[in-house]
Amino acid sequence: MKKDLVKHIVILFSVLFLMTACKSSEKDIRQVKDFNFAWRFQLGDFPDAMKADFDVSNWRTLNLPHDWSIEGAFSAEHPAKPEGGALPTGMGWYRKTFNLSEDLKDKVITVEFDGVYRNSEVWLNGHYLGKRPYGYISFAYNLTDYLNFGEQPNVMAVKVDNSEQPNSRWYSGSGIYRNVRLVVAEKLHIAHWGTFVTTPDVSKEKAKVNLEVMLQNDSNLDKTFKLVSSIVNAENVQVSMVSSEASIQKNNIKTAVQEFEILNPMLWDTKNPYLYKVVTKVYEDSKLVDNYETPLGIRYFNFDAERGFSLNGKPMKIHGVCLHHDNGALGAVANRAAIKRKLTIMKDMGVNAIRVSHNPSSVELLQLCDEMGLIVQAEAFDVWKKKKVKADYHLEWDKWHKRDLEDLVKRDRNHPSVMMWSIGNEIREQFDSTGVAMTRELVNIVKTLDKTRPVTCALTENVPDKNFIYQSGALDLLGFNYKHKDYYDFPEKFKGEKIIASESVSALETRGHYDMPSDSIKRWPSAHNVPFDGNDDFTVSAYDQVSAYWGATHEENWKTVKSLDYISGMFIWTGFDYLGEPIPYPYPARSSYFGVVDLAGIPKDVYYMYQSEWTNKDVLHVFPHWNWEAGQDVDVWAYYNNADEVELFLNGKSLGVRSKQNDDLHVSWRVPFQSGTIKAVSRKGGEVVLEKEIHTAGTPSKIELVTDKKSIKNDDYDLVYVTVNVLDENENLVPEANNLIKFEVTGGGEIVGVDNGYQANLSSFKASEIKAYNGKCIVIIKSNGKEEIINLVASIDGDRIVASVDIKIE
Ligand code: GAL
Repeated sequence: MKKDLVKHIVILFSVLFLMTACKSSEKDIRQVKDFNFAWRFQLGDFPDAMKADFDVSNWRTLNLPHDWSIEGAFSAEHPAKPEGGALPTGMGWYRKTFNLSEDLKDKVITVEFDGVYRNSEVWLNGHYLGKRPYGYISFAYNLTDYLNFGEQPNVMAVKVDNSEQPNSRWYSGSGIYRNVRLVVAEKLHIAHWGTFVTTPDVSKEKAKVNLEVMLQNDSNLDKTFKLVSSIVNAENVQVSMVSSEASIQKNNIKTAVQEFEILNPMLWDTKNPYLYKVVTKVYEDSKLVDNYETPLGIRYFNFDAERGFSLNGKPMKIHGVCLHHDNGALGAVANRAAIKRKLTIMKDMGVNAIRVSHNPSSVELLQLCDEMGLIVQAEAFDVWKKKKVKADYHLEWDKWHKRDLEDLVKRDRNHPSVMMWSIGNEIREQFDSTGVAMTRELVNIVKTLDKTRPVTCALTENVPDKNFIYQSGALDLLGFNYKHKDYYDFPEKFKGEKIIASESVSALETRGHYDMPSDSIKRWPSAHNVPFDGNDDFTVSAYDQVSAYWGATHEENWKTVKSLDYISGMFIWTGFDYLGEPIPYPYPARSSYFGVVDLAGIPKDVYYMYQSEWTNKDVLHVFPHWNWEAGQDVDVWAYYNNADEVELFLNGKSLGVRSKQNDDLHVSWRVPFQSGTIKAVSRKGGEVVLEKEIHTAGTPSKIELVTDKKSIKNDDYDLVYVTVNVLDENENLVPEANNLIKFEVTGGGEIVGVDNGYQANLSSFKASEIKAYNGKCIVIIKSNGKEEIINLVASIDGDRIVASVDIKIE
């Protein structure tokens, strides 16, 4: 009894100690500086521009991240072709002049680039630091030996060469399109990507946490140090702490391991993505010499050959989307606010997973997936040694694949959201016996750095004997792209294997455009070289009725995946439309039709099919619009959930009650058009759940401006997205309105992009005007540094139709 009491008191004291210890307000010693500001840029090649005294006074000044391709004009003649977005590529140089204070002389100073497309070469004060061909990889250079301090400036020069084309099957962007930072550390410090946190044992009661820390001693002295790591919960309270001592020889690297235990851990999952962090401090003679934070989410997951995926012991279907890296009108620019909006739109649809196709992602995407509760499949490559297009990564394969794959894993392995490593997408070597050894080599590279996540590959060949990547026996999880009708045989064909639909659907839609499915099911022809019998205006119907011949409609595919427990889940190709790959159309089509959401971020109708299936929200979505020719037969579809039936009315008269039968995912009516109002009512047990009305709209008379937030940070990064709706005098959306909308921004803001989501729109994303497309468009605004309220005015035909909105500066 007494012993127990003592034990309890000890526990209580340790808890109190732990809770207070973290409140210490020791100042960070590691400095991480934003290095994006005030670069000079010039398109073209300047063989002497690495020299410190090279004159760049007439070069443009800009802030990173920057993508020069998105600033250009569309043309079918650009070497990247419409598949690459029909935008210019080429070569460009960036230069930045900066001073460092004398007190930084004894430090170790590193520059970190999150991504440069492509073939970047970096010089500091004329010294060559290196080249990284892969446009999606993050990298760093140690600058210490070449820096100037005090009055004498430093010059960093970066050459970017994206001239060899085509080198991508989609729009890549060109330039330093992700963030750059400068890191100032002491001689004894935690190395670049120098921590690795894992949770080898997790239960409701407790979690074991394992931390590896790679220490780097760049001094000429052997050192003894103390390593103190604390786990801090989301309320910023320390819940566990380990302190250890070790020594390291001069000019050496050493890995230290620390183990922790957390009682009653809060688990990370997609509904409550609870995040801890590990704060690591290095002391030399009780002086703090480095501090470093590692994200930590405590979760366990499993892929099962029969039951599919589970997270923290709970079965869960993966409801995923593939996403390319571009952010529409911003091009390849990696912007946290843009990515957050993209992921928010996906989450609202019910998405719980992202496949980053087909390359290493931005850092921000993974941070946001950690915070928002989205599972990630991180993917390394779209090609190995065998090319897909002339100048793609196959040229770099031999020299770079090991380093690039290692760097991807080292950078991303601390993110709780990352649960799968994909070593490739539709890799040609699956058809070739060289695939066996290559797969084993790549899996081994990943496993040497991280054994906690399954390694997968997105395959297309599903005849086991013919697929050499599968034959390697090295994959933990088989990813299959498309061919949903073949899934039924998989348990037989791939006995005991864990399976995910790594890519599916490839349906095509233009937002707001409707060809009646009862009249014309426009299907993709069954071979590549037969032209698609499409529409003259390069549109594809937004009823879920057209898909690539290798794919399926959204409904067909989801019905199959839903019915098979052994398929862990699926990734739709794609969540958003993206720049490039405009199949099935030729130029002027220049962006893809595959998205559930258009390039501007505006949902297509099928978004609500997923919402009705993948969320518990009450959904009733009725379409199309109600502006048709008198007497025309119109297919009216409704997606709904949480209800038994939907009744449709035309001008007050019932057109009948429908309910989904068997595995139906929508209900429909064929309605001879009469202008007026269609109204849908969903009911459960006779009670009304939702009602939706669509009215025949008149001519454009008003503009509605809808902002995604009311205020903006004054930091050059935050963005406000404003959706513009063209309305008639009764506030109905005018469904085919294509008026030119002119924007004017005054006060503390400026326009960074416009878009209307139309795949064949050739006007500039960087203009201050755009035509509405099917009644809608967007304008994207950021602050300009002035502490003034931002006022946006949108107008049609001079002052005939005007609307305005204010955005506050935070
Ligand atoms: C897949 C490929 C994707 C995209 C898609 C279009 O085969 O993996 O990158 O090209 O086809 O349907």
